[in-house]
Amino acid sequence: MIVTIDGVAASGKSSVSSGVAQALGVPYVSSGLLYRAVTLLGLTAGADLADASALLPLLPGVRLEPLASGNRVWNADHDLTADLHSTRVDGGVSTVAALPEIREWVDAQLRALPDPLVAEGRDMGTNVFPHAPHKFYLTASPRVRAERRAKERPEDIPAIEAALTERDRLDTTQSAPAPDARVIDTGPLTLQGVIDTILADLR
Ligand code: CDP
Repeated sequence: MIVTIDGVAASGKSSVSSGVAQALGVPYVSSGLLYRAVTLLGLTAGADLADASALLPLLPGVRLEPLASGNRVWNADHDLTADLHSTRVDGGVSTVAALPEIREWVDAQLRALPDPLVAEGRDMGTNVFPHAPHKFYLTASPRVRAERRAKERPEDIPAIEAALTERDRLDTTQSAPAPDARVIDTGPLTLQGVIDTILADLR
């Protein structure tokens, strides 16, 4: 069984997926972490983030570990996880995610994972796992999302909202909801409320 949870930036996908996966007793995977890892390695190497041929040689050691307590991303024996959510990575990741060769690499990593699992990102229900029987798509207004993310970033809410809106624009191509996804506006709901909505639907 595969459950896909897609949605726009900072819509709560990771926290919701983690809660749903824990309730189901299965792992979850955050596909965005792989795009973030490619971005971090590209920035560290001084590579052109729009050039897949400069990025692909940096990736053979990259591995996503879907732990129940949260995902970790490794480059050989170096844990990259703590550095994946910087404002710098936020600013470059959509450029990397637009590259078809990088998308293929991420998709291959995800499809190699054993199911059951909960997969979250932008195109889990449309592209990576189109035959998943349970699909959800999370939305919320830009202001609500910026207020949530302000707890995780040093910038103020208007700056975060502007960056999120720009990332939504750059991610439009891969962010369409699957036609068979249930769309949930998380604005009026608590985190547990979103998790419970999904679990009720699965039952
Ligand atoms: O948590 P947040 O929604 O801010 O970001 P994320 O899920 O970690 O995704 C980071 C970036 O990776 C997105 O802005 C997209 O550019 C890209 N991404 C994607 O293109 N496709 C996915 N399935 C997941 C992420």
